[in-house]
Amino acid sequence: ETTDITELLLSRIRDVADYPEPGVVFKDITPLLADPAAFTALTEALAEVAARTGATKIIGLEARGFILGAPVAVRAGLGFVPVRKAGKLPGATLSQAYDLEYGSAEIEVHAEDLTADDRVLVVDDVLATGGTAEASLELIRRAGAQVAGLAVLMELGFLGGRARLEPALAGAPLTAL
Ligand code: PRP
Repeated sequence: ETTDITELLLSRIRDVADYPEPGVVFKDITPLLADPAAFTALTEALAEVAARTGATKIIGLEARGFILGAPVAVRAGLGFVPVRKAGKLPGATLSQAYDLEYGSAEIEVHAEDLTADDRVLVVDDVLATGGTAEASLELIRRAGAQVAGLAVLMELGFLGGRARLEPALAGAPLTAL
């Protein structure tokens, strides 16, 4: 992506020290969302990734992945599929558990939303440890669909998410704007 858009996006992400707990620097994207030029530029850049990867559907990861993924789906002319935290989807779901630093979490997707004909691009705001993204890629595979890639606004490189995701991506691109 061009330096111009990188600088625009970076300038609209706020670092919040010691949130949600001491020692963590939280990446707050609400200034970016509130700026129509930045939000539009981000949406268009992610929609280009969707086109480039031949995606047929966009998955957004609750909750900030919903905010980014839905306009990308509309812009790219694709369907949007929410991957939610366990217990929020009313229909028949596929569930995938994954480990957190302390304990574990579970995400779900409506099984009927993904078919063998789909190539799915996962969209989220932040790639940190990669646990959430890895579980979402597993859901895509278990649904019998193909992984088109993973696209995030930012990647916290020091947490090693990219290396962790290599097996699950199986050659599909990881794009961090
Ligand atoms: C954050 C972020 C990613 C995930 C990244 O979501 O939006 O989805 O964590 O972390 P990982 O790479 O270590 O899995 P969070 O779980 O805070 O959910 P929220 O957007 O609903 O607050």
